[in-house]
Amino acid sequence: MRVLSGIQPSGKLHIGNYFGAMRQHLQLQAENDGFYFIADYHALTNTPDKDEFRQCCLDVTMDYIALGLDVEKTVFWRQSDVPEVTELAWILSCVTPMGLLQRCTSYKDKVAQGLSPNHGLFAYPVLQAADILIYDSELVPVGADQKQHIEVTRDIAGRFNNVYGETLVLPKDHILDSVAVVPGIDGRKMSKSYDNTIEIFEPENKVKKKVMRIQTDSTPVEDPKDPDTCNIFALLRLAASKDEVAEWADKYRRGGIGYGTVKKRVVELLHDYFRPYRDRRAELEGDLDYVHGVLENGAKRARAVARVTIDRVREAVGLGG
Ligand code: ADP
Ligand code: TRP
Repeated sequence: MRVLSGIQPSGKLHIGNYFGAMRQHLQLQAENDGFYFIADYHALTNTPDKDEFRQCCLDVTMDYIALGLDVEKTVFWRQSDVPEVTELAWILSCVTPMGLLQRCTSYKDKVAQGLSPNHGLFAYPVLQAADILIYDSELVPVGADQKQHIEVTRDIAGRFNNVYGETLVLPKDHILDSVAVVPGIDGRKMSKSYDNTIEIFEPENKVKKKVMRIQTDSTPVEDPKDPDTCNIFALLRLAASKDEVAEWADKYRRGGIGYGTVKKRVVELLHDYFRPYRDRRAELEGDLDYVHGVLENGAKRARAVARVTIDRVREAVGLGG
């Protein structure tokens, strides 16, 4: 099955991104035809600083490779290296009702937060639809926050096919809800926008400091505690084995365990979990030619697929001769 997903290069990736999205992308690649890309055109809607933006794309690429991207099998590229996707986005715009975009909650939320929106932000779901449709994607693994964008994609593809005849493949979504929202160090959802993240590859001593700072309630050490509402337990659950999770849940319920002890174990677990990847990440930093090569090769493979779709679409709408 063709599985496609994109991630925006808009900051350092954090363990919420990893456990909430990237880990599943990486797991899906073994049994599927994986197509993963860096959504740099999408990130432009935030008008990032040019040099930081370039570096960020490279960082995300190194993160994915270090975390286990199969560079032979999976196609991994930078969205803007396949400019055909913007052509498709324009063609799709012409069958997309304004009302459909006006109803998108991610757009409405940003406006409600006081952001003054540019046209790119408004049209964002159309570009996302083009990303999905240009590669004939069948399954699109995304977090719950992106579900509406997949519905919009299906809606746009359906309208296109109605007007021009069967041309585009309607994708299914695949909600990555097997992992609950990963809490940040202040207890809210971990997110770059809240400045409460633990980055996947920040130095181990920084990870330790952040975990030790995580907010907890004031239940005394000897009292029983509820593992299901504890932020530290939520992190422990991500990196520990099933047996260990069950042991700690039992200790919580019996009481007699302080949050400081659990935090120390979480630090060890996170270090152990990411250490092999951290070593690989450091090697990649020293071999940027290889990293650029992965992107170039990915762009070539992605572009070949995109070309076939865009030719089919141009033919369907009557562009060219
Ligand atoms: P951020 O909120 O830091 O800007 P993004 O919105 O770019 O993160 O998220 C990229 C991917 O990571 C999405 O698929 C999203 O569902 C997932 N993700 C982000 N934060 C979390 C979190 N705290 N818990 C689980 N998944 C998350
Ligand atoms: N909008 C997605 C996000 O913010 C990123 C994205 C862009 C994407 N194009 C996509 C995800 C296509 C899945 C499929 O997380």
